[in-house]
Formats: sequence, C-alpha cells, structure tokens
Amino acid sequence: ARAGYQHLMLKEIHEQPRIIRNIIQRKQSAWLPGDSFGETTCGVLLIGCGSSYHACLAGKILIERLSGIQANAELATELFDVTGSTRRYRAVIGLSQSGETADTCAALDRQRQAGFYTVAVSNVPGSRITRLAEQTILTDAGPEMSVAATKSFTAQLVTLLNMGLALPLKEPKRALDLTGELRALPARLQRILDREDAHASAARWLASFKNIICIGRGIFLPIALECALKLKEITYIHAEGCAAGELKHGTLALLSPVTPVIAFMGTDETRAQMLTAIREVKARGVPVLAIAPEGEEDLEDLADRVILLPRTDPLLQPVLAAAAAQMLAYHAALSLNLPIDNPRNLAKSVTVE
Ligand code: F6R
Repeated sequence: ARAGYQHLMLKEIHEQPRIIRNIIQRKQSAWLPGDSFGETTCGVLLIGCGSSYHACLAGKILIERLSGIQANAELATELFDVTGSTRRYRAVIGLSQSGETADTCAALDRQRQAGFYTVAVSNVPGSRITRLAEQTILTDAGPEMSVAATKSFTAQLVTLLNMGLALPLKEPKRALDLTGELRALPARLQRILDREDAHASAARWLASFKNIICIGRGIFLPIALECALKLKEITYIHAEGCAAGELKHGTLALLSPVTPVIAFMGTDETRAQMLTAIREVKARGVPVLAIAPEGEEDLEDLADRVILLPRTDPLLQPVLAAAAAQMLAYHAALSLNLPIDNPRNLAKSVTVE
C-alpha cells in the first residue's frame, strides 16, 4: 500500500501533482442554483471540520475574488442555529474528505431541512455527505489512508478554485490567466516535492522546539492554520496558526528565541504586511522560517531560514505553500521517530458528533 514510500503520508504527498493534473483537466459545470431569495441573498456558506474547514476558509477567498459572490466559512461543529439565522444562502457547501464526518453531515443536514440548497464536496463517492446533499462535487484524490489529510486538502483547494471559475466571473479575462498557471501547477508542485533535503533540514530544526507559531495573511492564513494542525497531529509539537496582523494583539507575548515563527509569504497585496510582521518578530530575537515564492531571495538577510517555492498566480500559490507545510511536518515527525500514519488519539474519520 505504501508503494515503496516509508509512510502512507509521504506516498499521498507525492500523489498530488498527478491528482491536481486530473482535477484541472475536468471543467467544473455550473453548480450554483439561481437566486431564489432575490434581494436578501447573501451568497454561499462553506462548512467543514479540521483541514476541510481550512479549505473552506481558502474557498471563501477564492470564490469572492473570482466571482464577487459573497462567501462565508464556518466550522461545522459551531453551526448550531439555522432558524434564527437571517442569512439566506444560495447554497450551503459541506466539505468532507471522508464524507462521513458526523459533525459536518449533521450541520449540512440541518441546513437542508431549513430549506437551503446543499452541495457536498467530498473525496469518497457514495459517502454519507454525498447521499444527503442535493448535489455532489468529487475531489477525486483517491483513497487517503494516512490520518493526516494531505492530498485531499490540496484537491479541495483546486476543486474550490474550479468551482469559483464556474461562477459568473468578476473579470472574465482572469480565467485565461489562470488556465496557463493551472497547467503549470503540477510540475511546480513536483519541484517542491523533489527538494526533500531542503524541507528535511528545516524540519529537523523545527523539531527541536516545543512551541511553534505559524503566520499568514489573506489566503495564506488558512495555510498557516493548516501547517499548525499538521504539526500538532503528527509531531505533537504545540503549534498555533495566527493571522500575521494579530501577532501584536497578543500572540507576540509568546514569542522568544525558543518559540519560532513559520511565515507564509504571499505574492499579493499581503506581501508588504508580511514583511512588516517578519521584521517585527526578528527585532525580538525570534527565529523565523520564511516560506516564500522565488524572487524573495532578499528574505535570506532577514529570516533565519528560507524555503523558496516556485512562483505562481496568487490564488494558486497557497497550493504550493500547503505542500511545503506537509513536507515540513512529515520530516519533523520522521526525525522525532513518531508513528506518522497513525498519530495517537486520532481516527481517520470521526463518525460521532
Ligand atoms: C487533519 C485531519 C482532520 C480532518 C477532519 C475532517 O489532518 O485529517 O482534521 O480534516 O477530521 O475530516 P473530513 O474531511 O473527512 O470531514
């Protein structure tokens, strides 16, 4: 089952270029029903748990940037109230890799019963969520066996991007720019996976710390949250994802020479603000690992360690950053000699609420 890889997680990480190539070859057909609520409508709601919730957070930004349709993301585990809601979503989209997560299924079912149109985005055909939703969009990442979500997460990101592109676009020309970048994405992802040494060396360094703060802004915030989750799950290191701009509102107090920061640099308007955050952190003697697109070589003077990733469209860059985060977590756990595919206390799918 491991196909020559030491762990299922590593095998699944390496499947990503092929999976993404397949997803982008499929054109997503129209999926959003007409606006039956008229003026009171407020776009779409994305719900999920864990990594799938992080994909919802990124999906909100992808959908809003591409289509201008308002999107919200909520934790399925915190979505209790439907009747009291004044919002009228045109669709509620439930994301679940397994399609069996009880919290997500229950929340989506409540929305369906309240009269909302429901869409399941799942990796498992015929799973519970696909049976209860009106419409299903499959992520087609193939069976994911390692407990930590990897290929299913990037497949969710690219699927959500396709879903965004299938909506009436704010700038129709944007779809054309993205086509070329999407085509080049699998090879760029492969280049990251081929640089095992760079990730392993940074990961061994990370593994020496007890606490790690991951920061990002905009569409890189969900990636910072996902990086922290991956670290917690498989390395058991306490890691926290934090919006870069929120550091000074509290989390900065935790930082010290033994509590490093992993900074996910964006290529969009968040770049300057991320640089400010990194400078702020460095001024306090805090070690920084920057994960940034090529062209940011100057960061080498500022950060302690830099991992440069191929540069792509700002909406696709998070996919590459996510792969780097997975590699870091994997190699950190490997150096700590932990049971990577079956971390303690966790099950692959959580079928109780
Ligand atoms: C993280 C992880 C979990 C799942 C969560 C939702 O690596 O695997 O956080 O993302 O339990 O699972 P699904 O997507 O199957 O609903």
